Amino acid sequence: MTKSLPRPDRIRRAIELLRNETTDKFDDVVTFSAHEFTDPELAQRERDLIFGEVPSIIAHGSEIAKPYDFMTVQMPRNNVLLVRQKDGGVKAFVNLCRHRGALLEDNEKGRCRFFSCPYHRWSYDPDGSLRMITRDNTFGDIDRGKFGLVELPCEERHGFIWIIDNANASIDVAGWLGPEMDAILGGYDLAELVCFRAAGFDEPTNWKIMQDAFLDGYHIQYAHPNSAGKIIHTNVMAFEDFGRHCRFIAPRKSIDRWLEEDPGDRSLDPYVTETHFLLPNSTLLRQPDHFQLLTFRPHPTDPTKSRMEQRLMVPRLEVSGMAEDHWNNRWEKNWEILLTVLHSEDFPLLRNSQQGMGSADAGDMLLGRNETANQVFRRETKRLLAKGAPPS
Ligand code: FES
Ligand SMILES: [Fe+2]
Repeated sequence: MTKSLPRPDRIRRAIELLRNETTDKFDDVVTFSAHEFTDPELAQRERDLIFGEVPSIIAHGSEIAKPYDFMTVQMPRNNVLLVRQKDGGVKAFVNLCRHRGALLEDNEKGRCRFFSCPYHRWSYDPDGSLRMITRDNTFGDIDRGKFGLVELPCEERHGFIWIIDNANASIDVAGWLGPEMDAILGGYDLAELVCFRAAGFDEPTNWKIMQDAFLDGYHIQYAHPNSAGKIIHTNVMAFEDFGRHCRFIAPRKSIDRWLEEDPGDRSLDPYVTETHFLLPNSTLLRQPDHFQLLTFRPHPTDPTKSRMEQRLMVPRLEVSGMAEDHWNNRWEKNWEILLTVLHSEDFPLLRNSQQGMGSADAGDMLLGRNETANQVFRRETKRLLAKGAPPS
């Protein structure tokens, strides 16, 4: 396994693995069981001890670029209202009116100078403070400072907006990423990119089955023989483990010409895809000329459901050197291909996996030595759950 080698060396390592028809590996095969994907008690612990304790990405900053832009997101513990502030910062609130608990904002996205509750028309400023109580001469005196929107810990870093889904937590994204992954993401200038498209898919599948599939370099030629399998090599991953997070380089088939011929000093960046796993629930794919972010969130109550979000982050039109039409067509086409593969190849397979996991006598299942990023995902989610376990 490699650790923190310069990128050209890591790409050369991927070529070496390809030549030897192997991949980076852990020492052991690990087992897991079907109840991990169906157990309501475990699902509750995951919501509280994972999503309620550690930062996860909720959006790219460009999705709410201007003051008063907002979006709403269902997180595992809270329905969240995310608002760009007048000073350029971002705040996250529980999307709920403090009067009698109506959902304050039911649009997924928009722009708003104040939020007005549909039930009795109390209103709130974008910074969450309670702005007006209707007919307040009859309502009675309350301490308005105590009845603003409930704020959730939120930070914008490396172009993404991160939150901890717990009003009592405090957030430190750099600390969570650790020095290695923080420096890696810092090197990508992700804040300079624009989110070309974002979409969410509600699937009848546990979030871990979903997340696992998008850390998996082993299924490509079998599950995607006519799409990704034609482009990327299967089961060849030059892998780095950073403790919580990890990443791996997978060679594209176009790299094959350099198996025989010496590439010299030429950059091999166009011949690889680099996958980053950001604990607890994101896959960030670095493609030769853009990034793709996949996030997976448990349903708030049902362990057999989840929501996946996909985002395509690309160089802005102004710096791309492309004509507007060309820029639009190019990324639109890319987006359509991604959607087709998801809907026609990954999702049906994963829905069936969930159905399989519903069997009472499923028996143990296995993650191979070659399934390195999946092993990290499993190891680290277990560690987070164990931290929250009562002392035995
Ligand atoms: S519930 Fe919002 S104003 Fe009454
Ligand atoms: Fe897949």
